Amino acid sequence: MELSELAGGLKVSKTCVGCWQFNDNKGAGTWKAQSYEVSKAIVDKAFELGLNFFDTAECYAGSEVTLGKCLQGRRQDAIIASKFGFREGITTPPYSPEQIDEAITASLEKLQTTYVDLMQVHCAHFLKDNKECVEELKRQIGRGRIRQYGLSNYGPNNLRSLFEHDTSAVSNQMSYNLLWRSLEHEVLPICREKGIGVLVYSPLQQGLLSGRFNTPEEVPGGRRRGKLYFGDRTKKSLHGQAGMEKEMFETLGRIRNICSKAGVPMSKTSLAWLLQQEGVASVIVGCRTPEQLEENSKIVNLSDDVVKQLTEATDELKAKLGKTLDQWVHPDRFD
Ligand SMILES: NC(=O)c1ccc[n+]([C@@H]2O[C@H](COP(=O)([O-])OP(=O)(O)OC[C@H]3O[C@@H](n4cnc5c(N)ncnc54)[C@H](OP(=O)(O)O)[C@@H]3O)[C@@H](O)[C@H]2O)c1
Repeated sequence: MELSELAGGLKVSKTCVGCWQFNDNKGAGTWKAQSYEVSKAIVDKAFELGLNFFDTAECYAGSEVTLGKCLQGRRQDAIIASKFGFREGITTPPYSPEQIDEAITASLEKLQTTYVDLMQVHCAHFLKDNKECVEELKRQIGRGRIRQYGLSNYGPNNLRSLFEHDTSAVSNQMSYNLLWRSLEHEVLPICREKGIGVLVYSPLQQGLLSGRFNTPEEVPGGRRRGKLYFGDRTKKSLHGQAGMEKEMFETLGRIRNICSKAGVPMSKTSLAWLLQQEGVASVIVGCRTPEQLEENSKIVNLSDDVVKQLTEATDELKAKLGKTLDQWVHPDRFD
């Protein structure tokens, strides 16, 4: 597996194992229950395929503990990315430097390790004070508890405010895929310019880009909360917008036709299209089975023509979506 090198020297596989689904059978909300045994089989398969990169977070119920257990005896072979934020759910207040220190201690304990390779700020609003919090993150690097720090869900203004104090963040983890291209307006160019690697989350738009779902009703409830869907699609929807279901499924139809003409499955095509965008360092895919991971890790190279066709087929949806970066909440939390 080809590796991407982030600033600061972390070498990560281009497919990263998304561990939000590693819930140790405590499935609720977005993802149904997944047993430890299945998660362990996915981690074993990742190493067999040459992948080394795993993404988790303090707020993914059961995930850090499960990942830590799965990595016993293999810690040195893995690059672990975790995040702090959302410890009390969506209304979690910002973290002070002391609370960042506590969050890192808790992550290290749950992961059964002495260091996290990449500690990410889950969203910009979780830093109480940019200057003091960045100093704390750098202190944590100095203490060897984290190797690098990264960002997540940082919009253009969030990035610019941070850069007033520090430019050493090595990555920005963002939602990006053929159905959600708002990143291209400002964030992707800024990250390219500053040498910040983009780590893509929800690269399959939570399974939609596998081609398995043809109507909104077929999509599992927890995954219908976002702005691509009508605001009242689920009781947990928080955006209150009209959504763009018609345009989204028409776009999916166009993508499906291009994939079938190119003879490449939609999920592989969608991941390849992302990895062929300049600035994307890795795609973080949530996998349910070792078989899904195997398929997602075998990266194909799309011709320039197919890349262009896919881009053009999704331009209309991109225009409708505009600059919104936050999939779930209106007004945007990611500025
Ligand atoms: N920083 C953030 O704010 C943030 C937000 C969201 C996610 N993340 C991270 O990003 C990771 C990935 O994002 P995500 O899980 O939201 O979305 P995703 O990767 O786009 O979709 C994951 C889902 O797609 C389906 N899938 C995966 N591979 C498949 C294949 N080859 N064929 C058919 N279906 C396939 C599976 O659905 P089934 O379960 O139905 O099989 C899987 O659960 C998460 O695990 C997490 O680590 C970060």
